Amino acid sequence: MNATAAIGVTGLGVMGRNLARNFARNGHTVAVHNRSVGRTRALVEEFGHEGTFVPAETAEEFVAALERPRRLMIMVQAGEVTDAVIDEFAPLLQPGDMIIDGGNAHFADTRRREAALREKGIHFVGTGVSGGEEGALNGPSIMVGGSSESYDVLGPMFDSISAKVDGESCAAHVGTDGAGHFVKMVHNGIEYADMQLIAEAYDLLRQVAGYTPAEIAEVFQEWNRGRLGSYLIEITAEVLAHTDALTGQAFVDIVTDAAGQKGTGRWTVQTALDLGSPVTAIAQATFARAASGQRELRAAYAGLPGGTTPLLSRTEAARFTSQVEHALYASKVIAYDQGWKMIQDAAAEFGWKIDLGSVARIWRGGCIIRATFLDRIRAAYAADPELVSLLGEMEFAMEITDAQVPWRETVASAARRGIPVPAFSAALSHYDTLRAERLPAALLQGQRDYFGAHTYGRTDRPGAFHTHWAEPGRPETSD
Ligand code: 6PG
Repeated sequence: MNATAAIGVTGLGVMGRNLARNFARNGHTVAVHNRSVGRTRALVEEFGHEGTFVPAETAEEFVAALERPRRLMIMVQAGEVTDAVIDEFAPLLQPGDMIIDGGNAHFADTRRREAALREKGIHFVGTGVSGGEEGALNGPSIMVGGSSESYDVLGPMFDSISAKVDGESCAAHVGTDGAGHFVKMVHNGIEYADMQLIAEAYDLLRQVAGYTPAEIAEVFQEWNRGRLGSYLIEITAEVLAHTDALTGQAFVDIVTDAAGQKGTGRWTVQTALDLGSPVTAIAQATFARAASGQRELRAAYAGLPGGTTPLLSRTEAARFTSQVEHALYASKVIAYDQGWKMIQDAAAEFGWKIDLGSVARIWRGGCIIRATFLDRIRAAYAADPELVSLLGEMEFAMEITDAQVPWRETVASAARRGIPVPAFSAALSHYDTLRAERLPAALLQGQRDYFGAHTYGRTDRPGAFHTHWAEPGRPETSD
């Protein structure tokens, strides 16, 4: 077989197939391979006219079809399957070749695989791809890890297939080894937070303002034209406007209220605990999904007392809607800020040089959390690459200042009525935690010293101190 393919894709499930088609449609010759050859043949039969595909039935044929340095993209299930596919292909490759993993792999696995393949001179490029099947076909957001040397070759190819916003590509080399998959993981964590915040806003509009799903769909359409404009707000309006064909009821009312997850949100929270990054809105969103699925526990709590205030009048409801918009926006800024800070913490921990502005740039299009306000985040980091928090940027700070009364009123109304708003509350508490002049952490330090002699720092002098709690009068000791 002649080595004519610029890239090869193995694993022709929906994502793999669509990415292969996207490469082909953009003028790249694509070798395609799948464990069962049926999918390979089907792809070429159905979509062969879209570009140049080289179907390969065996691993050897597949590798032989690739131009040097070989670029081999694996689109298989994350975990053991990925390891098995790497073990199958790596022995057939040569130094300088590249294996690109476009699945939703855990970044720690990517770091391990990258280190192992580097020993053999093979570049392992962990790549986050966002945008679902539609994005994979028509332009995803692409978060690339691995060596910068491999990106020199792959960058233009990724640029050609990625989403574009204002003529700019939504692909970037975000950092070395597992940085691409790490950034994709945080993208999904933010996605969880954003979706939960939107769901809480819907619940409040329904239960406090008394709006119907169709009316709330209109509110979301309106919000989508403003600063909240985003893919998630847009699809929320569509989901809420949808009527179930079978019953004629609002679709949202016939769906079981137990949210699933494949695990990337959970990984974000688990990793945040290790890094000490307080991504509380993401964590609450992840726990809210878990709680929604706890049928037995929910049954045990059902019927217990909650808030009782009456529904709002139509005029009050309109005012309340504008309050919720402020609360949603402010909480969203906090959730995104938490995600960005987590990326900064990881960059320090793993030695990645991540351009935070470019993360915002490549999330403006193609991915699930694409939103107009990401352009402002991009601009904020462009103006100050060392920005510690988005609230250090004047416009965001002003918006958060304006949101104070409505944000707090929204969370308070939810508490008064007994409506759960874990993500709204977490975002507000995070804001209050970070702005507080003194935190009760000082008391915790006293408690820790009392029962465990864990020592504490003093506000008036350096060092670590211990109070002899059982011996009043004995002076404290210092290290
Ligand atoms: C994307 C999505 C995609 C997906 C996740 C999350 O960026 O295209 O994030 O990766 O939707 O699988 O799904 P769960 O909600 O099932 O975890």
